[in-house]
Amino acid sequence: MSTTTPTPTPKALYASIDAYTLPHSHPPTRPSHPLLATAAASSSAAGLPDIALSPVQAKFLALFCRAAGITHVLELGTLGGYTAIFLALENPSLKVVTIEVDAHHAAVARRNVVDAGLEGRVEVMQGKGVDVLEGLRGEVGRGEREGFGLVFVDADKENNWRYFDTVVGGGLVKSKGVVVVDNVVRGGRVLEEGSGDARVVGAREVIERVGADARVDSVVVQSVGEKGHDGWLWAVVN
Ligand code: DHB
Ligand code: MG
Repeated sequence: MSTTTPTPTPKALYASIDAYTLPHSHPPTRPSHPLLATAAASSSAAGLPDIALSPVQAKFLALFCRAAGITHVLELGTLGGYTAIFLALENPSLKVVTIEVDAHHAAVARRNVVDAGLEGRVEVMQGKGVDVLEGLRGEVGRGEREGFGLVFVDADKENNWRYFDTVVGGGLVKSKGVVVVDNVVRGGRVLEEGSGDARVVGAREVIERVGADARVDSVVVQSVGEKGHDGWLWAVVN
């Protein structure tokens, strides 16, 4: 009888690779590490769903902000604030405005932001995305608030296109700024034409409409990792 090592499922393999690489590129000795661990644990203890970015994905966005010299980020879909806190901790002058519709999630996020010492740089705005965006659009239009270099759309997937069109059309994202839409690949379900799943419909709609949008240039990047197989849409504003 021979013994064989069982072949891991693809998701277990992707997770193992994140688990191997992350401590090298982002060691636990980093000052941000305990603060991020606290934010993640507090979100989990408060019953929030386990759908935040993975540390690898959040680190990538943080490095992108640093490389591109981005100073102001707008996020739709705060959840417990993990991504916003990660971006701010890794970029000491970065400011993040993050919008959350769920009052419980927003309360947990605000507490996590305070616990991370970031109340001066991470602003959690509670309300419906379209309503909060309308207010921000007025403030940016009147010069009362900076435009954003990165907008991260990670909220209700049915409204992906609506959020995208509002941030680009409303002048919330600066020229040469980037809009990133999370979760547009969905383990391959993005290929399901005529899907009955509103999140798949929302992914296909935003990919197709952004692709035809002369205001931006875009690409969809697939990803694998501890969150499985997914991907994000990147669009650079003219
Ligand atoms: C879901 C939402 C997300 O933003 C994500 O990154 C993963 C999953 C969801 O609603 O299932
Ligand atoms: Mg997401």
